[in-house]
Amino acid sequence: MKILSIESSCDETAAAVVEDGKRICSNVVLSQALTHGKFGGVVPEIASRMHAEGIYDVTANALSDAGVTLSEIDAVAVTFAPGLVGALLVGVSFAKALAFTAGKPLIPVHHIAGHIAANYLSSDLAPPYLALVVSGGHTSLVRVTDYTEFELIGRTTDDAAGEAFDKAARVLGFPYPGGVYIDNAAKTGNPKAYRLPKPQVEGYDFSFSGLKTAVVNIAHTASMKGEKINAEDLAASFQSKVCEILAEKTERAAKEFSYTKVSLCGGVAANSGVRAALSKMCIDNGCKLYIPPVNLCGDNAAMIAAQAYYEYLSGNTADEYLNALATLPLTKKAR
Ligand code: KG4
Ligand code: ZN
Repeated sequence: MKILSIESSCDETAAAVVEDGKRICSNVVLSQALTHGKFGGVVPEIASRMHAEGIYDVTANALSDAGVTLSEIDAVAVTFAPGLVGALLVGVSFAKALAFTAGKPLIPVHHIAGHIAANYLSSDLAPPYLALVVSGGHTSLVRVTDYTEFELIGRTTDDAAGEAFDKAARVLGFPYPGGVYIDNAAKTGNPKAYRLPKPQVEGYDFSFSGLKTAVVNIAHTASMKGEKINAEDLAASFQSKVCEILAEKTERAAKEFSYTKVSLCGGVAANSGVRAALSKMCIDNGCKLYIPPVNLCGDNAAMIAAQAYYEYLSGNTADEYLNALATLPLTKKAR
C-alpha cells in the first residue's frame, strides 16, 4: 500500500511516499527556518503563507522522486493536529482536495503519533514499548500499547525541551533554531562548569523553564557586569542537565512498567548528548533503545505516512469535514 503524506504543522512543508508503513520511496522537506530565523522564532502567519506557496511543488516532487503518479497512490495522509492552526490548515485543505479529486481515502494523523512512528521506518520496533517524544513543541512520555493506542503518562508542565534548547541558544548568540548549535558547542565545553537547577516535578511530568531561565540569567548577569561567558561550557552544562532529566524520568517509567524497549523520537532526539544519555540508561537497565536516523527526528512527512498505514489498518479515515486542530490529546481520534 503506497501512502502519499503531507506535513505542515509548524515550519517545515513536507511530503513523502511510503510503502506499507516501512519503505520510504521519497521524503521531501522544505524548511522555512532561515526565514523565521530573522525573527528569532516561528512567525505563524509567515509559516502559513510559505506552506501555501510551497506545498504544491513539495508534493509534486515527492511523487516524482518516488516515480509514481497520484493515480498509483493508495491513500493520502495528513497531519491534522496539533500545531499552528493556520499552518495545519494548508496541509489539511491540500490533502483533502487531492484525496477527493483522485478518489483516494484520506487518513488523519496526529503529529506526535507521527514522531513515534518514525522508528518503524528504520527498525523492527513493534508495540508495546515506552516512547520519549522530545521536540520543539512537546516533551512526552508515552506508553505505546499498540500502533494506534497510546497512554500519555508524562508531559512538560511548561516549556518543551526543544523550546528550552532554542531559548538557551538565543541568549548564547546562536541562530534559530538553536538546538543543533548547543549540541555542537557542548562537544568542547565542560558540563560541570556551571551549576544549574534541576526541577522537582511530580510523577513523569517534566519542567524546563527554570533551567532555561537560569541560563538566561547567567548570560544577562555576565553581560551587565561586562564579563564574557564561556558559551561552550554553558551549552555543555545546560545540555547535560536536560539529558539527566530526560534519562531519569524515562528510566523510572521503564522500570515501573517493566519495559524492555524504549523509543526516543522528535527533533531533540537528534541531540548527541540526549542520544548518549538514553543509550547509557538503556544499557544499564537491559533495555533496547530505538532512535530514528537524524533526518527522521525532525518534522518530516515519511513518519506521517508510517503512522497513517496503521491508522488505515485500524479503520481510521476521514471525510471532507476533517478540520485542523491546534491542540488535541494524543489519545483522541480525528472525530
Ligand atoms: O520535531 P521538530 O522538528 O518540531 C516540532 O515538532 O517541534 O523539533 C524541532 C526542535 C527544535 O527546538 C530544534 O532546536 C530541536 O528540535 N533540535 C535539536 C537538535 N536538532 C533539532 N535540539 C538539540 N540538539 C539537536 N541536535
Ligand atoms: Zn514535530
